[in-house]
Amino acid sequence: MTAPRTPILLDCDPGHDDAIALLLALASPELDLLGVTTVAGNQTVEKTTANALRVLEFVDRADVPVAAGADRPLARELVVAAYVHGESGLDGSSLPPPQGAAVEQHAVDFLAEAIRGSDRPVTLVPVGPLTNVALLLARHPDAAGAVERIVLMGGSIAEGNVTPAAEFNIWADPEAAWRVFRSRLPVTMIGLDVTHKALMTDAHADRLRASGRAGRLVAELYDFFAGFHRETYGFEGAPIHDAVAVAHVLRPGLVETLPRHVDVDCESRLCRGRTVVDLWRRTGEEPNADVGVGIDAEAFLELLCDRIASL
Ligand code: RIB
Ligand code: CA
Repeated sequence: MTAPRTPILLDCDPGHDDAIALLLALASPELDLLGVTTVAGNQTVEKTTANALRVLEFVDRADVPVAAGADRPLARELVVAAYVHGESGLDGSSLPPPQGAAVEQHAVDFLAEAIRGSDRPVTLVPVGPLTNVALLLARHPDAAGAVERIVLMGGSIAEGNVTPAAEFNIWADPEAAWRVFRSRLPVTMIGLDVTHKALMTDAHADRLRASGRAGRLVAELYDFFAGFHRETYGFEGAPIHDAVAVAHVLRPGLVETLPRHVDVDCESRLCRGRTVVDLWRRTGEEPNADVGVGIDAEAFLELLCDRIASL
């Protein structure tokens, strides 16, 4: 008797690692991908939407609906990450332009309808700025309250990537993130503390390159992404941040988490978007998230490569 599939919704801003996370979700029979919603972040929402469509069409999964969402943060100016992902948001890949289009419905309404219509509780996996999720909480609190859990890629206990203090997804829309962490919904935070400990390397990419067309696409995405990380961090490889969030849903135990209180700095200039994780329980505040603190990197990369090679 196989376990029932976990219904998930992926909210993303493709982005190289978002694209790989999407492929991992599609390749995993444990998951039932109900739909993909897009948000402005790594690139404009027009480009992140086109990129989600490009990836789905590449693996013949145009049946998965894509709904476009917020074109800017709740309160801040939109600052895209072209310096990381390029002008297209998926620079370095040979993906053709999309043939299809997103559905008419706004992502926030699409999410609410998908959650309400699912016969099993849905896991929401946001891997970009949390603008759509904050809008879902505001506009459809009943649907937001019905999610099984929110497993988000974002934040960090210690380091930053877009600034010394903050991780990009939270920094891009700190007010949205603040809203999500205060929602009292079951939130899991997959931050840089774990994603930077599980780097894909050239050896993984070469294995994927030889595994088939999806593997060749992931290797292309990796090559571009690894170049940025080599130059910026001196890493010998690249963190596939968003795929760690998907992997945590499909293979519990890969990521070690601790229940901790997380707040988001929306006030200061220097620490805008910092996730302030009360790791040593100094505030006495009740935990509001399960925070990733460790990862079985080898098992994660083995799972990722196996699944991509199976597409
Ligand atoms: O900081 C890493 C996160 O920001 C990832 O989700 C990446 O895709 C970018 O959105
Ligand atoms: Ca992302």
